[in-house]
Amino acid sequence: MITIGFIGAGKMASAIIKGLNKEKFSIHISGRNFEETQLTAKVLGVNGSASHTDLIQNSDIIVLAVKPYVVADILSEHKIEKPIVSIAAGITLADLSAMTSDKQPLVRVMPNINATIQKSTTGIVRNAYVSDDIFNIVKAVFESVGSVHELAEKDFGTFTAIAGSSPAYIYMFIDAMSRAGVLHGMPKDTSTKIVAETVLASAEMILKSDENPWTLVDNVSSPGGTTVAGVVSLEQNNFVATVIDAITATIEKNNTMNQ
Ligand SMILES: NC(=O)c1ccc[n+]([C@@H]2O[C@H](COP(=O)([O-])OP(=O)(O)OC[C@H]3O[C@@H](n4cnc5c(N)ncnc54)[C@H](OP(=O)(O)O)[C@@H]3O)[C@@H](O)[C@H]2O)c1
Repeated sequence: MITIGFIGAGKMASAIIKGLNKEKFSIHISGRNFEETQLTAKVLGVNGSASHTDLIQNSDIIVLAVKPYVVADILSEHKIEKPIVSIAAGITLADLSAMTSDKQPLVRVMPNINATIQKSTTGIVRNAYVSDDIFNIVKAVFESVGSVHELAEKDFGTFTAIAGSSPAYIYMFIDAMSRAGVLHGMPKDTSTKIVAETVLASAEMILKSDENPWTLVDNVSSPGGTTVAGVVSLEQNNFVATVIDAITATIEKNNTMNQ
């Protein structure tokens, strides 16, 4: 059985570990504090290592699930001669390579917050030293908590905006629409549930049909009808351009943070 060792067992590592099939993967975790690690390991039903050194020795693949600013410390204190997977936001393969040895197999992964309900949309990229076998195992780990998209590393900033930050924008859209329901007399909780269900089913419709989203807009816009009145109103208020500007602002902020 493949052993996956997670250094750092906070929110994201715990979300991933909860989704993993414990009969397929043996899982070790090591945190900053031994007692806390043991408690977390008990809750998650995995092995708590006494130290990072123990975890590294006993694992086939090491996942760095600490905050980005902790990664350099871990890699300078421990020589890891095994494939390393980093989920740290903004840390590139080149950054990781500079902190490890020559020809170190490295995988960069970006899950999103929906991992907490096992529905992450995850981006992944590897360097040239990761074999297909290892890469497939890493992909299987993240497929346990959602979907995995192999990306060019240059697209990670864009991915971070449209999958990492976008849940916040989608929540704003849902809240705005449900608030409109309240304005017109509906209770907020009923309105929010109705909008959230409609957003979920509309997203499913896009994934299940081969149609372009604009074709689906046309399909629900009858001539002279109610929907087209709303579509035109959204466009008069620059809906599409506003959303594109928000994503561009997110990407630009991400780029300045990674300089
Ligand atoms: N949360 C997200 O939605 C999300 C999405 C994509 C990527 N990520 C990435 O995932 C990584 C983890 O994020 P998170 O949200 O899970 O953060 P988190 O909940 O704060 O987890 C980080 C964990 O690392 C532990 N830690 C700190 N120093 C350590 C050390 N020297 N050795 C071992 N463990 C140490 C922390 O323990 P203490 O609490 O004791 O300090 C904490 O349990 C980050 O790099 C982040 O960029 C997160």
